[in-house]
Amino acid sequence: MTQLVRVQNFTLSSDGYGAGEGQSFERPFGHADPSELFAWAGATAHWPNRTEPGGGYGLDDYCTRDFHNNIGAEIMGRNKFGPQRGPWENYDWQGWWGEEPPFHTPVFVLTHHVRPSFTLGETTFHFLDASPKEALAQAFAAADGKDVRIGGGVNTVREFLDADLIDQMHIAVGRLEIGRGERLWSNPEELTDRFHLEQIPSPSGMVHHFFWRR
Ligand SMILES: NC(=O)c1ccc[n+]([C@@H]2O[C@H](COP(=O)([O-])OP(=O)(O)OC[C@H]3O[C@@H](n4cnc5c(N)ncnc54)[C@H](OP(=O)(O)O)[C@@H]3O)[C@@H](O)[C@H]2O)c1
Repeated sequence: MTQLVRVQNFTLSSDGYGAGEGQSFERPFGHADPSELFAWAGATAHWPNRTEPGGGYGLDDYCTRDFHNNIGAEIMGRNKFGPQRGPWENYDWQGWWGEEPPFHTPVFVLTHHVRPSFTLGETTFHFLDASPKEALAQAFAAADGKDVRIGGGVNTVREFLDADLIDQMHIAVGRLEIGRGERLWSNPEELTDRFHLEQIPSPSGMVHHFFWRR
């Protein structure tokens, strides 16, 4: 079966931002509040970071339930992995996610400052200085025939869109405004020359945007 490149559960403010300004160890999304941005996902039964039982089973949950569906590897940008910039001072930082990161697959972190691979729980992080096309070839090879998730952040999604390497995207757009930071789009219609688009509102107030190639 063809391996696809997918974006899933990527969440934007109503004004198109996926992260705020001023990322730090204390504020992984900069001035934006992730508990507001991702409230929709956190309330679902299948939220990958869920540690307690509970959560809803409605439309939002159908989206979070799809997170692991046929995914064999993830590619993410260095700023999703951590707030450091420039050369690594040491390799102590192992991401935000604790001893059992929610990926459970190989993860390829794009960076100009590569470092040795390491494994935490069921997730192995590899660091690559590569073009999107080269990174994708490695991720496909590691994905055991399954699809590859482009996990963000915004610049990494943009880079893969610019290289025309994305097959499907699920983007959840909320009501809050972030105002400044990393912006994916000013309007989703920007992508409809290349993608079909269905926008489906959820009772939570999110509008789920599903894109697939024309
Ligand atoms: N809204 C959501 O659903 C969502 C999802 C994931 C993450 N986020 C948030 O988004 C923010 C991060 O996004 P971002 O747009 O700032 O950055 P990003 O896409 O995570 O990372 C960009 C960085 O990755 C490295 N990189 C990217 N492509 C590369 C390539 N081809 N070769 C080598 N290095 C490459 C570069 O870092 P270096 O040059 O420093 O190596 C670049 O500055 C964080 O706040 C994160 O929490 C939001």
